[in-house]
Amino acid sequence: MPDRYAVFGNPIGHSKSPLIHAAFARQTGQDIVYEARLAALDGFTQAAITFAVEGGRGANVTVPFKEEAFRLATQLSERAAKAEAVNTLTFKGDEILGDNTDGAGLVRDIRDNLHFEPAGKRILLMGAGGAARGVIQPLLEAKPAALMVVNRTEEKAHLLRDFFNGIKTGGYADLQGRQFDLVINATSSGLSDQLPPLPDTVFSDGALAYDMMYGRETPFMRFAREHGTTVADGLGMLVEQAAEAFFIWRGVRPQTAPVIAQFRAA
Ligand code: ATR
Repeated sequence: MPDRYAVFGNPIGHSKSPLIHAAFARQTGQDIVYEARLAALDGFTQAAITFAVEGGRGANVTVPFKEEAFRLATQLSERAAKAEAVNTLTFKGDEILGDNTDGAGLVRDIRDNLHFEPAGKRILLMGAGGAARGVIQPLLEAKPAALMVVNRTEEKAHLLRDFFNGIKTGGYADLQGRQFDLVINATSSGLSDQLPPLPDTVFSDGALAYDMMYGRETPFMRFAREHGTTVADGLGMLVEQAAEAFFIWRGVRPQTAPVIAQFRAA
């Protein structure tokens, strides 16, 4: 019998995770099945526990359940504790281990796939919701020269200072006169086809603009491209965070480049 895994979300229909994990399993010869499961908005905890009781070995968790998964876990990795969000659960006896591989996936994509070394660079992170929060600690661990977090609702960015030592926070108006080598969009602005109010001068020469969204060009990607900046979407991060979860569960690190290429081609 193959070991069973699942991803829980709402909605979940468009999740690429089952295909990604199937590709990893084929590539590494691991005998697993991985399915997408829709959980009711008030039914995630029950659904996850039921899956574990039925023999599920682990689960990924996506929007909007990452904070609930954080509360469900009986043991947390340090990075999940910092993020207060969990995207990877491992069921071990009576314990539910919670981890968060989003930030590691982002940093790995930036370093290994995009060949951009964040150490010593000036990084701007836009957004202060769950997506932003999940990547701050791993970005700090990459030793940037500075990490500034801006948010439309400035107060929410300032609150993050209590959790993460060494970040600067502010609003978009504070970006006047500042330049960054790496600008990361962790807002949901792309979903509503909006552009965060960035000044024209925000990108340094040779800057990388990274949008955590994928699947289509967002206004931020277009803005960055029009300013001559290298642009990346979040597909690489998606595959890398999955690889990190696969490694936690199976102890084997799959190759991500062929899987990213396969999705780009599709
Ligand atoms: P997620 O889990 O994706 O982070 P979230 O917690 O709802 O979702 O957070 C959405 C983030 O996108 C917030 O930082 C939000 O800014 P506010 O806190 O001011 O609401 C940001 N956001 C959404 N639309 C935006 C827009 N058009 N311009 C700038 N920021 C935007």
